[in-house]
Amino acid sequence: MKIDVVSLFPSYLNPLNLSLLGKAQEQGIVQIAIHDLRDWATDPHRNVDDTPYGGGPGMVMSPVVWGEALDSIREQAVVDPVLIIPTPSGQPFDQLLAATLAREEHLVFACGRYEGIDSRVGVHYSRDERWDSVKEVSIGDYVLAGGEVAALVMIEAITRLIPGILGNPESVIDDSFSRLDCLVEGPVFTKPPIWRELEVPQVLRSGNHGLVNQWRKDQAQARTESFRPDLLSDRAEDPL
Ligand code: ADE
Repeated sequence: MKIDVVSLFPSYLNPLNLSLLGKAQEQGIVQIAIHDLRDWATDPHRNVDDTPYGGGPGMVMSPVVWGEALDSIREQAVVDPVLIIPTPSGQPFDQLLAATLAREEHLVFACGRYEGIDSRVGVHYSRDERWDSVKEVSIGDYVLAGGEVAALVMIEAITRLIPGILGNPESVIDDSFSRLDCLVEGPVFTKPPIWRELEVPQVLRSGNHGLVNQWRKDQAQARTESFRPDLLSDRAEDPL
């Protein structure tokens, strides 16, 4: 998979070179390129933003500069890329969207700052047939200072689903939200069996896989009821 990230603060994306993703890049499973948006600014001050039409606080990022950046990335591409614009007003990012995007060959993340990117950018590229699709995506109901951290979150969730990236591919199967029953994962433990008077549940040390599986299911159900009842009611409303 090829991933391009365009940002005014390229160093924000440095963590992409660490850990699993760093290794996946060395192995050639993923190629990540980080671009500085200001490289496409043409005016003498290399401005990338301007005041909003209609008034209001803050600045809006220029469609002219973003257009230059995205056209130039598209020119280098060998397949039609998916353009992802992180924004708190976008569709919610979830495990299903992560799994869908993990099957794509080329993702481009356009990280906005300030009051966001001029809305015509998303409209324009969704009409441009040389792009696979445009997705405006939110990672949660809160406002970050820019799209960079949201891009990091999405890239980590997406790439760990690509075959060959995780050491143990089975670990994605039990992840919260991944299973067909869509529950969050229950508690996990390792040695020692007693730590500060807290004991690992006996059943997990019993060696009885049937009992262990049942216990895990019950715990996942209980934790979902307690912290994420919305997941259970969503399921009840789902006609499928
Ligand atoms: N940019 C600012 N806040 C964001 C959010 N919650 N999700 C995605 N991008 C954002």
